[in-house]
Amino acid sequence: MNILITGGAGFIGVNLVSYMVNKYPDYKIVVLDALTYAGNLQSLKSVEGKANYTFVKGDICDRTLLDKAFNEHQINAVMHLAAESHVDRSILSAEEFLRTNVMGTYTLLEAARSAWKDAEAGTKRWVFLNVSTDEVYGTLGSTGAFTEQTPYSPNSPYSASKASADHFVRAFYETHGLPTLTTNCSNNYGPFQLPEKLIPLMILNATEGKALPVYGKGDNVRDWLYVEDHCRALDLALHKGRFGQTYNIGGENEWTNIKLVGRICELLDELRPAAGGRGYDSQITFVPDRPGHDLRYAIDATKIKDELGWHAQHSFEQGLKDTVLWYLDNLGWCEDVRSGAYAEYYDKNYIGR
Ligand SMILES: NC(=O)c1ccc[n+]([C@@H]2O[C@H](COP(=O)([O-])OP(=O)(O)OC[C@H]3O[C@@H](n4cnc5c(N)ncnc54)[C@H](O)[C@@H]3O)[C@@H](O)[C@H]2O)c1
Repeated sequence: MNILITGGAGFIGVNLVSYMVNKYPDYKIVVLDALTYAGNLQSLKSVEGKANYTFVKGDICDRTLLDKAFNEHQINAVMHLAAESHVDRSILSAEEFLRTNVMGTYTLLEAARSAWKDAEAGTKRWVFLNVSTDEVYGTLGSTGAFTEQTPYSPNSPYSASKASADHFVRAFYETHGLPTLTTNCSNNYGPFQLPEKLIPLMILNATEGKALPVYGKGDNVRDWLYVEDHCRALDLALHKGRFGQTYNIGGENEWTNIKLVGRICELLDELRPAAGGRGYDSQITFVPDRPGHDLRYAIDATKIKDELGWHAQHSFEQGLKDTVLWYLDNLGWCEDVRSGAYAEYYDKNYIGR
C-alpha cells in the first residue's frame, strides 16, 4: 500500500507513523501535516531517513497540493487524522475547527475520490479510513456504553465539527461509492501527547510544583485507550474493515478524572518523590467546570473485537506507569514543544485551565 497519513505529526499520528513505518517496510508511508501548534517534526525523528517514509508539509484544505501528493506517491490508502483536536480551544473559537475538520475533510474526500476514480481499474484495495472520536455520540449517564448504533449528539464545537466530517465521509460512500470507513475511539494516552492535555499536564505541573487543575468535582468519566492499542486497531481497520461501516475502539477502562489524577500523583510519589515527603495530591485544585462538559464516555468495542479480532493489549496500570516514565525521561521534548509557536498561542489565547 501507498498510504497518505494526514496529521502524522500530531500525538496519535507520530505513534501511528512509527508503528506503520516499522511494521510495513514494503509500504510507502507519506505523512501530510500542516505543522500547526499541535504538529511537531521532532517527534518523527525515529523514522526520519527510513526508505519507506516521506514527509510533506501541507494543509488538507489545499486541493492542488493534495492532488499532487496523491499522484506523485500513487496513494491507494488514506488514514485521515489531521484535525483541530482540543475541546477547550474549540470553546474559545470554533472557526479553525470548521476550516480544518469540516472543509479540510471535504477537500481531502474530493481529492481521494479523484485519485480513486483514476485507479478504479486496478486490483488493489483502495481505502479511506477516517479517524474520529467517541465525543460525536454526546454524553452518557451513569450506565451503558456507546455502540455503533448510538445516534450522534455532539455537545462541543469540536465534536460537532468531527460529527460533520463523519457524515461527509459516510455520504461519499453512499453517494459516490468511495471505499470509506470511520473509527470512533475514546481518549488516547501515551508518549508524545501535547503538554496541555490532561495526563501530561498533570505530570508536568506536579513535578514543576504547580496546581493540578481538575474541572468541577472531577466526576467526569473517560474511557482511556493506550495509543499503541489504537494504532493496532487502525491497522486492522485499514486492512480488513468493511467499507461503509463504523468501528468503535475503546479500552473498556473507565476512570473519573479525580481518581485518574490521584493515581498519577501516587505514581509520581513512587517514581519522583517530592521534597519533604509531601504527596503530589496536595497540589490538586478544583476549577470551574468546562461549559457543555460531557459527564461520561464509555465504548462498547464488541464489533471490532468480533469482526477484526482486536483487543487492547496494554493494562491501564502498566500503560499509565510507562507514560509517566516517558514524560519524566523526555522533559527536553516537553520543553521544546512548549516553546516557539505553541508557547505564543498558549500564553495569549489559552484559557482552558
Ligand atoms: N487524542 C485523542 O484522545 C483522540 C481521541 C479520539 C479521536 N481523536 C482524533 O484523532 C485524530 C488525531 O488526534 P491527535 O490527538 O493526534 O491530534 P493532535 O492535535 O495532536 O494532532 C493533529 C495534527 O493535525 C495537524 N493539522 C491540523 N490542521 C491541519 C490541516 N489543516 N492540514 C494538515 N494538518 C493539520 C496538526 O499539525 C497536528 O500534527 C484527530 O482527528 C482527533 O479528532 C483523538
